[in-house]
Order: sequence, then structure tokens, then C-alpha cells
Amino acid sequence: MTRRFLFVLGSSRAEGNTELLARRAAEQLPADVEQQWISLAEHPLPDFVDLRRDSDHVRPPAGGAVGLLLDATLAATDIVIASPVYWYSVSGLTKRYLDHWSGWLRTDGLDFKAAMAGRTLWGVSALADDEPSVADPLVGTLNNSAAYLKMRFGGVLTGNGSRRGDVLSDAGALARAKTFFAREAPPARFPHERPAAERSA
Ligand SMILES: Cc1cc2nc3c(=O)[nH]c(=O)nc-3n(C[C@H](O)[C@H](O)[C@H](O)COP(=O)(O)O)c2cc1C
Repeated sequence: MTRRFLFVLGSSRAEGNTELLARRAAEQLPADVEQQWISLAEHPLPDFVDLRRDSDHVRPPAGGAVGLLLDATLAATDIVIASPVYWYSVSGLTKRYLDHWSGWLRTDGLDFKAAMAGRTLWGVSALADDEPSVADPLVGTLNNSAAYLKMRFGGVLTGNGSRRGDVLSDAGALARAKTFFAREAPPARFPHERPAAERSA
């Protein structure tokens, strides 16, 4: 199956560090891999409303932001969440996109969970802090979301920066970007599903 990467840009500013780093990583993808880039700031999703079983979730109409994101998500073999670190986790725009997954899980005729199983989730993220481990909540959000949907998880490529363009001075991040998408993404596992030795490592 031809791979098709969806890049979901979650920064509230255009051409920020996260997007720059994601574009560096994407440059390394083979030419036959399709790429689609969607900025959540340019296609703002409405606040997610939790209807649960109170009423049927219906497939959103094509043409709107929800329909665009749903169709793009379903068409992708690989979904790249390109979110800056905001308060140690994903940005609000990104979180809202993930919240809509909950609605899609309950939309008749979609079988979103089965559709996502086996696909790959990746993360790219910029943060101001010099210590990437402060972004562990963001990594955990993406890892556990992938595990819940029985997806593969390719990990998160992080880069340092505060002002726009700073990440281009992070030589380590640019080096990691060169091979980031080339690695094999293993099936995602919740932390408690990992072998004890791996958890304490
Ligand atoms: C609302 C907000 C919250 C932020 N929270 C954090 C944080 O928790 N940790 C951190 O290291 N940087 C934080 N930052 C800094 C951004 O991660 C940093 O500026 C990053 O380069 C922004 O990415 P972008 O250029 O792709 O928008 C925050 C920035 C904003 C605007």
C-alpha cells in the first residue's frame, strides 16, 4: 500500500518551529510517499461536544473543517501530530482535533477504531525548554492514544526553540529529522503493557 502522510499542524502561529522541523523531516520521505499538510489554525475545528449515546453522531459534511480533517485522517497511513509543547502537552488546537476522534469513534458507519488499527502515529514538537523530557506528557498523550487505537507509534521528534526559526539552530534536532521517518514504528503499548525491565529503563 502506498504510504500517505498527513501532517496536522497544531501551532497557533504559521511557520513556527514545529512546522519547520516537521518540514525538515518530511523532506527525507521518498518521492512516492504522498503528503498532505493541514493547519488547524487555518481550519479551526469547533469545540468538541460529547454526545456519547444521547444522540447519534453523524458523519460531518464535506467542505467543513471537521469533514476535511476526518477525510484526511481516514486517507492517511501515517498521521503526524506536529504540535508545539504548550503547558507540557499538546496545544489546544491539537487537543481539540484529538477530541474529535472520540466523536468519530461513535459515528455510525465509520468504524474509526478498526480503520485506525495498524496505522502509524508520529509526533513532531518544538519547545522552549532545553530539557526535552519536560514534554513527557505530550509524548504520553500521543503514545497512549495510539495504543488505545491499536496503532503503531513512531515516537516524537523534538526540537528546541522559542522565537520563530530558532529550531533551525538546533543541530541535534535537524540531524534527528533526517532519519526520523525512516525508522520502524513498533505497535504502540501503554506503559503498563511494556515489560517491567523496559519500564524501569
Ligand atoms: C501557550 C504556550 C505555552 C507554552 N508552554 C511551554 C511549555 O510548557 N514548555 C516549554 O518548554 N515551552 C512552552 N512554550 C514555548 C513553545 O513551546 C515554543 O515557543 C515553541 O517554539 C512554539 O512552537 P511553534 O514555533 O511551532 O509555535 C509555550 C508557548 C506557548 C505560546
